[in-house]
Amino acid sequence: MVTASHVLDRVLVLEMVRVTEAAAVAASKLIGRGDEKAADHAAVEAMRAALNTLEMDGTVVIGEGERDEAPMLYIGEKVGSAQGSGPCIDIALDPLEGTTITAKAGPNALAVLAIAEQGCLLNAPDVYMDKLAIGPGYPEGTIDLARSPSDNIRSIAKAKGVEPGDIIACVLDRPRHEKLIAELRSLGCGIMLIPDGDVAGVIAVTDPDTTIDVYMGQGGAPEGVLAAAALRCVGGQFQGRLVFRNDDERARAAKWGVEDLDRIYHLQDLAKGDVIFAATGVTDGSLLEGVKRRKNCISTESVVMRASTGTVRWVRGEHRNEPGMQCG
Ligand code: FBP
Repeated sequence: MVTASHVLDRVLVLEMVRVTEAAAVAASKLIGRGDEKAADHAAVEAMRAALNTLEMDGTVVIGEGERDEAPMLYIGEKVGSAQGSGPCIDIALDPLEGTTITAKAGPNALAVLAIAEQGCLLNAPDVYMDKLAIGPGYPEGTIDLARSPSDNIRSIAKAKGVEPGDIIACVLDRPRHEKLIAELRSLGCGIMLIPDGDVAGVIAVTDPDTTIDVYMGQGGAPEGVLAAAALRCVGGQFQGRLVFRNDDERARAAKWGVEDLDRIYHLQDLAKGDVIFAATGVTDGSLLEGVKRRKNCISTESVVMRASTGTVRWVRGEHRNEPGMQCG
């Protein structure tokens, strides 16, 4: 049995890219075809097949849903070819983050996963999470989900040395964010409203080229864990609080061992220890270029990062061996 400190072997870093590439390439056939389910299914099948070639004893802790609702890559599913003998690894995944985006050929759809040693990723129930994120370089404590959005904007502006009205926030374009958007507008903030895809939205705060200072608002909790894994690698601050809309969702929380329903989770609570995060662009976006299907070649762009070293690798792939593709 491999000891915990060696669990995330360096070799796995690049293997993770193969996995997200496989999912992105499979989903790319369905870009703009108006069929979210087919795109998701293609990505799930391809990611599962790629994961099962890896020599590890993997367990999906964030996946496509619970066992009775997801036939593949369900929470608890074992993946990898070395069950019982290989390194024990927990996996958070979203084979297609942005199913609607893909169906409509919009921006920022990704194939994404994060891996960590057993027990290091929060087993988040499939509910919403209130998210607040800023990039690296701010003093600890600049943001606090317990404070109002206005207070957070003022605090970020002060730390950045600008006026609150100079701050650009990224928010999912949803009716539930009407009040938040009105509050940000009253401060004069710029708001980038995104149709979907808040993993890319959160990661965008770490890239000065996007000019986004802060991510705010409610999106999926599983996506929150994935985004937190990325920020563990590249820096930045993230806070999340689970949002329960009814008793059924509260019961889900209990099932996943969530005791304090109002808890504010910090980066280390969501993804601790060594973490590897990988993503491949499906459609063009702020983080990555999407898959380009040309006559004899499919090109991909991926990023893979590791928390323990802080290394970020950008990987451009050219694939010539998809079934039916002519070489040359
Ligand atoms: P899917 O890929 O499952 O469609 O998720 C896209 C997404 O926009 C996420 O990025 C986000 O966290 C979540 O949906 C928001 O949920 P909702 O669409 O219910 O507001």
